[in-house]
Amino acid sequence: MNDSAATHHDNPASGPERYTHGYDSEFTLKQHAGRTAAAQAKWFLPYLQPGMALLDCGCGSGSITVGLAVAVAPGQVVGVDIAEVEIERARERAAGAGVANARFVTGTLYALDFPDDSFDALFSHNVLEHLHEPQRALREMRRVLKPGGVIGIRDIDAGGHLLAPDDPLLHRWLELYAADWAGLGGHPRLGRRLRGLLLEAGFSDVRATASYELYSDGEGLRFASQLAVSRVREAAYVERVLAKGLADREQLAAVAAAWSAWPQRSDAFLALAHGEVVGCKP
Ligand SMILES: C[S@@+](CC[C@H](N)C(=O)[O-])C[C@H]1O[C@@H](n2cnc3c(N)ncnc32)[C@H](O)[C@@H]1O
Repeated sequence: MNDSAATHHDNPASGPERYTHGYDSEFTLKQHAGRTAAAQAKWFLPYLQPGMALLDCGCGSGSITVGLAVAVAPGQVVGVDIAEVEIERARERAAGAGVANARFVTGTLYALDFPDDSFDALFSHNVLEHLHEPQRALREMRRVLKPGGVIGIRDIDAGGHLLAPDDPLLHRWLELYAADWAGLGGHPRLGRRLRGLLLEAGFSDVRATASYELYSDGEGLRFASQLAVSRVREAAYVERVLAKGLADREQLAAVAAAWSAWPQRSDAFLALAHGEVVGCKP
């Protein structure tokens, strides 16, 4: 981790900027590893062509990046992330997949180490939602995009999730999660703002869409349940929720129990809403 980059953008209200979930939670790692360009960048792939130079901004462990590299080959892909541990994982993943046209570097989206007009395409997935200053990052991303280049961003929107059954304890998890995240300086409802943010940052031909991440079959339901229970039991999360008076220990235990039992219910269903946007640098 590049500490100076990670702490440079401290916000007195929410503390140092950092990735909310950390880099070693078993279920977060599994969630990120399961992502692919075919699924999470489906809406962006039609804009990519062989030979393009592409930057994946906040590439994490590179599970989407390797698919983007295949889409633009023989063009070169760079994945940038603030966390060295993720960059190491991404390098291993690309080597393991035999993807030779992707390289990975540590850095912050607030100060990208590339000249102006370097890339034909920029991509970012589930990253701006974690930043204290998403607009500032977008302006920096715009700087390194070539005129005529294309940008694609996808972020969650906690105001649009679908959850069944209508059990208040299940819904409480989503509410607490969003409140804690916002308290850390994140933006749980960024998905709906992407169109406006891109226009404000000076991009043109902006096209916004939306989609869901589905947890609707046996394996998906079990995974979402484990993810929810593990997060609600995370020591740092529990401490923050208690300190802010968002819930007490008994309520957290009841939320965890409801999510544990949820996958066995015949009416269990979860779809997490995401906003997506594509634009051009004029
Ligand atoms: C939810 S993960 C998404 C990773 C990947 N894009 C994916 O969808 O699997 C968010 C990533 O953003 C990175 N990140 C957070 N703040 C950053 C910053 N200022 N500059 C670059 N990367 C950052 C984190 O280290 C983390 O890997």
